[in-house]
Amino acid sequence: MQVFYTGAEWSEIRLRLLQKNFRIGLVPTMGALHQGHLDLVKRSKENCDVTVVSIFVNPTQFNNPEDFAKYPQSLNDDLDLLKTEGADYVFTPSVETMYPQKSQMTLDFGPLERVLEGAFRPGHFNGVGLIVSKLFHLIQPHVAFFGQKDLQQVAIIKRLVLDLSFPIEIQTVPTRRENDGLAMSSRNRRLDAVSREKSLLLFQSLSWAKEELLNGTSWLEVQQKVNRNFKQTEGVSLEYFELVGTESFEILKAFDPNQKSSLCVAAEVGKVRLIDNLPVNA
Ligand code: PAF
Repeated sequence: MQVFYTGAEWSEIRLRLLQKNFRIGLVPTMGALHQGHLDLVKRSKENCDVTVVSIFVNPTQFNNPEDFAKYPQSLNDDLDLLKTEGADYVFTPSVETMYPQKSQMTLDFGPLERVLEGAFRPGHFNGVGLIVSKLFHLIQPHVAFFGQKDLQQVAIIKRLVLDLSFPIEIQTVPTRRENDGLAMSSRNRRLDAVSREKSLLLFQSLSWAKEELLNGTSWLEVQQKVNRNFKQTEGVSLEYFELVGTESFEILKAFDPNQKSSLCVAAEVGKVRLIDNLPVNA
């Protein structure tokens, strides 16, 4: 496994790989890797000849400076994990490499970013769009892999690829969960024992709501019950619990079994912001 730091280094490597007609897969990450990230690497290895993992905590996608400062980092452990998983290259650029100057450009994803994460984290998707575009331009992969846990991010990136004609296939990999259902996330490392216990409310609510909807309970009733439940749980503060069209991310007012929809939740547990989602009908 080779670690590189700049686009220039990669250009040379890439030329050699293309001479061999190799298909290149990119797994963009912000490090603090867990099994969910390794699933992306595994999928890339199954689909591509060469897998590049990027590790970069992207400052422009954090709307909250404290969240950025506290984002977990564990580069040495990450490199060990990636080596064991069989990644071929790891790109760990500096902030100066990715942002030689403060970016002047803003990306607006329209209705897609007016709801949920876009509404609660203003500027977040502009930062994601910028960094993913930069990675796509520098690495020029054939395929890029993203986790379904960040469902709205996947929709934003698919839009980015469409609108800017990136010749890159986007593959989505299912959410990896702990045995008790908590979606794996780098942020889980910051949960203390009490918050870890309370964090289960997210997946429990999603699972319960899905079952109720499929059994015919109205969305309004389901949403009200979940909201009440969160209010009654000390140390957990719900930001949103919504039913959305899985691809459009339009907020739905009622459940329609014939329309692809997903439940999405965000909550602060202790001081850690967690998100999760569950497709209701695929
Ligand atoms: O999902 C993430 O870890 C980040 O948003 C991404 C796609 C690596 C961009 O910084």
